[in-house]
Amino acid sequence: MRRAFEEHGRERIPLVMVTVTNNSGGGQPVALENLKQVAAVCHEYDRPLYLDACRIAENAYLVKLREPGCSKRAVRDIVAEMCSLADGCTMSAKKDGMANIGGFLATRDAEIARQEKDLLILTEGYTTYGGLAGRDLEAIAVGLDEVVQEEYLRYRITSTKYLGEHLTRAGVPILQPPGGHAIYLDALRFAPHVEPLCFPGISVCVDLFVLAGIRAVEIGTSMFGTHDDVTGEEHPAARELVRLAIPRRVYTQSHVDYVVEAVAELYRRRKRLRRFRIVEQAPFLRHFTACFKPVA
Ligand SMILES: Cc1ncc(COP(=O)(O)O)c(C=O)c1O
Repeated sequence: MRRAFEEHGRERIPLVMVTVTNNSGGGQPVALENLKQVAAVCHEYDRPLYLDACRIAENAYLVKLREPGCSKRAVRDIVAEMCSLADGCTMSAKKDGMANIGGFLATRDAEIARQEKDLLILTEGYTTYGGLAGRDLEAIAVGLDEVVQEEYLRYRITSTKYLGEHLTRAGVPILQPPGGHAIYLDALRFAPHVEPLCFPGISVCVDLFVLAGIRAVEIGTSMFGTHDDVTGEEHPAARELVRLAIPRRVYTQSHVDYVVEAVAELYRRRKRLRRFRIVEQAPFLRHFTACFKPVA
């Protein structure tokens, strides 16, 4: 972070944003100690720290389980401390807000809050409903309260771990240790014959859907690969992952067992996984809408 501030200059860095938990790196939690150090550097350079807080409760639960000195603390307390280090946050409430839809931006800066409220009125609606039905805002309020209940979190994290352990037992390569919201398959080890520029993660996603109707997402070269417009060269991402995100309060253990069987079966058939190429892509965030074709 210090190097980035020194290289680019603080005036070119409007804010620092930390995603808790790390969604593109395998769903690993951000340590409280790490966040404290990030906040200290932000103060040093006088830049605000914002959290992408959409999985803050799961993050806090994993902090409680794994970070020295935190095992006796209430999750609610750890969440409060994480928030106390930040100047604001964004939250997609479909995650730890436990709601069907919606989200929010929170800030401690009264001037920014005023500007955001004005913008909200212009673009989405008045501040008490802000583009959402009041019913959905209430669902978010209840969800934020329920999501820090530890018996809920224990069940949630345990069922994610269960999926991870059973896939590992079946020999399927996953990122270890399992995080809170998802299991990440390692597509490079799953399909070593598919080169990164032929989208091994996409290949696994496609065949998992065809085989078992299970919808996963590639977090690899489709999402983070780069395209050089001048030379036309493609550069692969640092990792090729497939995220099996688990919706909250939806699946029973037998659903999870089905996922284990399906992924293990696909792994047995892995030699048949195909290479893919992109036939259509948007100029940014291409992974949301790109079209792929198997390479003949
Ligand atoms: C860490 C993180 N932040 C933000 C978002 C965006 O959520 P939404 O599509 O609800 O805006 C996602 C979506 O998966 C996410 O994983």
